[in-house]
Amino acid sequence: MQFYLSRREMKCGSSLSLVAVFTAVWACATGVLADTRSQKQPTVLIATLVRNKAHTLPYFLTLIENLDYPKDRISLWIQSDNNVDNTLDLLKTWLETEEKKYHNVYFTYDENSRGFEGEKGIADWNNARFNHVINLREEALANARNIWADFLLMIDADAFLTNPKTLSELISKDETVIAPLLKSDGMYSNFWAGMTKEYYYMRTDRYKPILFREEIGCHAVPMVHSAVLINLKKTESNLLTYNADKLGPQRYDGPRDDIITFAVGANISGIPLHICNDQVYGFITVPLESQDTISQDKQQLTNLKLEILAYQEQLPLSKNLARFVTYPVKDTLGMDKIYMINLLRRPERRERMRHCFKELGILAETIDAVDGRTLNESSLKEWGVKMMPEYADPYHKRPMTMGEVGCFLSHYVIWKKVVESGYDRVMVLEDDIRFEPYFRQKVSFITSEVERLKIDWDLVYLGRKRLQDQEEPPVEGSRYLVLAGYSYWTLGYLLSRRGAEKLLEAKPLENMVPVDEYLPILFDKHPRTAWKGHFPERDLIALSAAPLLLYPTHYTGERGYISDTEDSTVITSLPGTKTREEL
Ligand SMILES: *[C@@H]1O[C@H](CO)[C@@H](O)[C@H](O)[C@H]1NC(C)=O
Ligand SMILES: *[C@@H]1O[C@H](CO)[C@@H](O)[C@H](O)[C@H]1NC(C)=O
Repeated sequence: MQFYLSRREMKCGSSLSLVAVFTAVWACATGVLADTRSQKQPTVLIATLVRNKAHTLPYFLTLIENLDYPKDRISLWIQSDNNVDNTLDLLKTWLETEEKKYHNVYFTYDENSRGFEGEKGIADWNNARFNHVINLREEALANARNIWADFLLMIDADAFLTNPKTLSELISKDETVIAPLLKSDGMYSNFWAGMTKEYYYMRTDRYKPILFREEIGCHAVPMVHSAVLINLKKTESNLLTYNADKLGPQRYDGPRDDIITFAVGANISGIPLHICNDQVYGFITVPLESQDTISQDKQQLTNLKLEILAYQEQLPLSKNLARFVTYPVKDTLGMDKIYMINLLRRPERRERMRHCFKELGILAETIDAVDGRTLNESSLKEWGVKMMPEYADPYHKRPMTMGEVGCFLSHYVIWKKVVESGYDRVMVLEDDIRFEPYFRQKVSFITSEVERLKIDWDLVYLGRKRLQDQEEPPVEGSRYLVLAGYSYWTLGYLLSRRGAEKLLEAKPLENMVPVDEYLPILFDKHPRTAWKGHFPERDLIALSAAPLLLYPTHYTGERGYISDTEDSTVITSLPGTKTREEL
């Protein structure tokens, strides 16, 4: 139940006299003293066709629940058939507790249908299936018009509206047809920036700037799909349809396809379609190829969840639905150990990584990072840290920060653990990383290739910033590995015991530079001769995954970017450290 009382005019339970208290309580209970100027939100019908989506539904439905919009102004229209998984069980479970919160729920399903005749698999689209979907969408549209819904949100069960304001934001834009930009883990999205003469997809120069939010706003485009809001209060919306027959063969000679008919029909009726990227609204899984299976769709979902986890701490999951979600069994990907470095005072990153590991089935040990903020002159002396006299940060021309020292020491502690524990190979991960799709599989490609080709290695970068343009030579016979050139960052790497020994034996604490400068020095690809002079043994064998398997979650300067190494105190008073003025 929602009341429409204006906060300005009355606060429940804060009145003076008993009569006033009674009046206020009564008014609160009935809502009669409502502000005459306040208005109810427009009514919305959310329509979803669901088929074999038991894996995406827990998240999809949780995000619908989380929409910041009064549920008594929303009706749901859900239609599900031809399932071979437990989609129906899940929908019924959800509706048991949620149904009463909505103005109305239209739920129709077919328990017996298992597919269309001649269908080659769950991702195969033949004419019968297209016709079926066209009819259902048309039904949803008719239903919305019939109940005088102000808006219809036509949304697929693999479109995740992670931004709770999506519905209210899109409504406020007052367009006839509008869609929130939904990102995938790659180039796929829910809009087209070009269409061929035959009405099929065409990549144009406008696509990337919209997808990557370089041009912000709501853009008119030839196609939006998967999550589309239609403003039914606009007269022109009467012309919209998913059914080609309603347009007639003179006006539409395109394929029998719900979204193409809708988009082309809108265009010939003079109704523009808009895609909005003014906020991060949500995400979408990449659709399957016709021969793909549900398990491939599950993998797509895992990839997408990891992409979402590069933007937020976790993907919400309603308690009622948690039991429908399964995770892979955890292991160490063939390593003796996987370490994850995290600062205790960054619990949100630890939490985010915990969710990533759960999705990936990674068993990792968290190493509390040495916090630069707790380091001081005397504690550094205890560590035996001396700065390399020639070092100055190449961009800022400043000595090392305490954060950078802390970061170095955190990696150093792990190298020591590797040698002391007698591990043969480990993986080291920082906590601000984004995993590439199929991370698990790609790591196993690398490890099995290393074994098959008997590749000699000490360190393999999984994520880094390449600093030189020259091609890096591939490791002989390898498909996945190159010889690493000068690189920055230590997002993640594989390390062998011999690698750890070499990194320790060079006594890096006595001539400290940031850890991502130290590694290239030891594999002898560092351009600074003076720095290298401090380390006569530079025979670390460093390879890199190509393409990389890890990227930073937030690039420098992007919203949300926090650097614990670069924003901390600059060290000026330690032995061997020059001040800014001297550099
Ligand atoms: C219809 O499509 C044409 C060709 O792409 C485009 O120039 C025109 O702006 C579109 N009309 C509307 C209303 O979107
Ligand atoms: C330096 O840090 C150590 C350990 O954090 C602390 O015990 C000590 O008091 C600090 N010394 C100074 C001079 O701040």
